[in-house]
Amino acid sequence: MAFTIAIDGPAAAGKGTISKAVAAHYGFAHLDTGLLYRAVGKQVLTGTAAIEAAQNLRAEDLQADDLRTPEVAQAASKVAVIPEVRAALVDFQRVFARRSGGAVLDGRDIGTVICPDAEAKLFVTASAEIRADRRFRELVANGLRVDFETVLDDVRQRDARDMGRKDAPLRPADDAIQIDTSELSIDEAIATAIREIDARRAG
Ligand code: CDP
Ligand code: CDP
Repeated sequence: MAFTIAIDGPAAAGKGTISKAVAAHYGFAHLDTGLLYRAVGKQVLTGTAAIEAAQNLRAEDLQADDLRTPEVAQAASKVAVIPEVRAALVDFQRVFARRSGGAVLDGRDIGTVICPDAEAKLFVTASAEIRADRRFRELVANGLRVDFETVLDDVRQRDARDMGRKDAPLRPADDAIQIDTSELSIDEAIATAIREIDARRAG
């Protein structure tokens, strides 16, 4: 049976952490759709045209190990403004979402554009400072040399670009359940998400 869980929200809100745990809990597959935009952004940094990169994207491009840098994140949010780039990535996401056995997709426009009929939708948020602090710690733990102000700037710039674009802007779907993780531990955020999804599954 296909069951789609859409998890959207701004940068470093905890979407990926919640998505992975939710997918493991229900035995569903998980797609981090940010990786699609990051993979396109990375190719643009090395000279490929954005639309061409999106149209020729291969599943193995999502496995590249240097997609998590702030430079690639910025490039991703710039290519994500281009309607032809977004259009080229729609089918892959929709096919993934409707696989039998269930799917969790996290991103910016899953509940609004990619899967408007998703059986459960979450919108995960936290304050920009808390999100930047989490991302900063994560990057440092992964050996990247960054300073906090740069990470906070990156988060704010991407938030503004993602919310301000015309095509598929970041916003909660009307029927999304909002979870503010600012004051929640990872375990509390995951438990809250599962409780809300269980309520949808029962209903
Ligand atoms: O996917 P997204 O960019 O929304 O965020 P994430 O990669 O899941 O989380 C960003 C960082 O925040 C990770 O290092 C998480 O471990 C951490 N986090 C946290 O400290 N508390 C939470 N409630 C959720 C995530
Ligand atoms: O992990 P984090 O939340 O920092 O970023 P991400 O989810 O990997 O997304 C990187 C960028 O891709 C975002 O800033 C968006 O501009 C874009 N994106 C998008 O436009 N639509 C999606 N469904 C997912 C990501």
